[in-house]
Amino acid sequence: MVEEGTRILSSVVASQISTHARYGGVVPELASREHLRTIVPVVRLALEQSATRLGDLGAIAVTQGPGLVGSLLVGITYAKALALVHRLPLIAVNHIEGHIHAVVSQNPVELPALALVVSGGHTHLYEVRRNFSYRLLGKTRDDAAGEAFDKVAKLLGFSYPGGPVIDMLAPHGDPRAVPFTLAKMKGNTLDFSFSGLKTAVLRWTEARDLSAEVAARRELLQRNPQPSIDEWLAVTPGETLGMLASFQHTVIRELLRRAVRAAEEIDARSLVISGGVACNAGLRIAAAATRLSYPVFFPTPGLSTDNAAMIAAAAFPKFARAEFADFSLRAQANLALA
Ligand code: KG4
Ligand code: ZN
Repeated sequence: MVEEGTRILSSVVASQISTHARYGGVVPELASREHLRTIVPVVRLALEQSATRLGDLGAIAVTQGPGLVGSLLVGITYAKALALVHRLPLIAVNHIEGHIHAVVSQNPVELPALALVVSGGHTHLYEVRRNFSYRLLGKTRDDAAGEAFDKVAKLLGFSYPGGPVIDMLAPHGDPRAVPFTLAKMKGNTLDFSFSGLKTAVLRWTEARDLSAEVAARRELLQRNPQPSIDEWLAVTPGETLGMLASFQHTVIRELLRRAVRAAEEIDARSLVISGGVACNAGLRIAAAATRLSYPVFFPTPGLSTDNAAMIAAAAFPKFARAEFADFSLRAQANLALA
């Protein structure tokens, strides 16, 4: 429940991490089933916590895409039903625009801004113009940065999602231990690529026998699905910590150098970094250490990973323009922002 596009009256998130963790990634069928199971109680709780009734609302915003089509369908069908019954306008929101508004709605972001959206599915650079129209400046040609974190973690026997655990362990390793090379892009040099880095990590693991430590970590996860940092450190030798720190350091350098160059190209007045990977403490520290002539904004931790408050916030400029969806609205798994 969001008021006037900025005031978050309630934000309820039903996490599915424990459902997918044992598979090391999101299982689409389970994801849509979980959405079906939780959508009614989540909406009820969001109303309750904000002391709001459906009849009080000005509109209902819903994610149209991009994302897993089964999960999107659950949200869209439910939103249409609520809108129909309560005679409320329906607003279709792009998931990526939501990530941008998770920051824009809560901070004095001056436009035009450069937005780096970096999640499990996206590593994209956008120009955010004054009327909240967007221009795509660069994107990943293979894996998203979050996906790279998840794959590296899985390869080494860590938990899903991989970002938080690598983030937690990286300060315990030497970021210069493994000299990973940065990607060189032909064509649009604002594009990203993480497949080379992922392969380099794979080669690094193949060059040594890690079977004992990987087995120890899997065994730890069996006993405790959410190990503490000390428990992870007890089963992760210094050499592996050094590789993880180097991997994270390389991802951060890839992200920041292109974001800064793109911001210069468009004369940005601010830099917005959003999406699940924006939680990364190393990325936040590195961004703060890069002295820029414009401010850098991150979402609060609660608004970094997927949530509905950012979707409601992103709907307000559309609400003001009376840009409503009708009941022919369909889920679009690959919906582009620009
Ligand atoms: O935005 P999000 O919640 O969902 C998508 O739309 O993808 O992002 C999830 C991604 C996962 O790949 C996860 O590993 C990554 O964000 N992530 C992190 C951190 N926390 C979550 N990556 C790096 N460091 C973190 N602290
Ligand atoms: Zn997301």
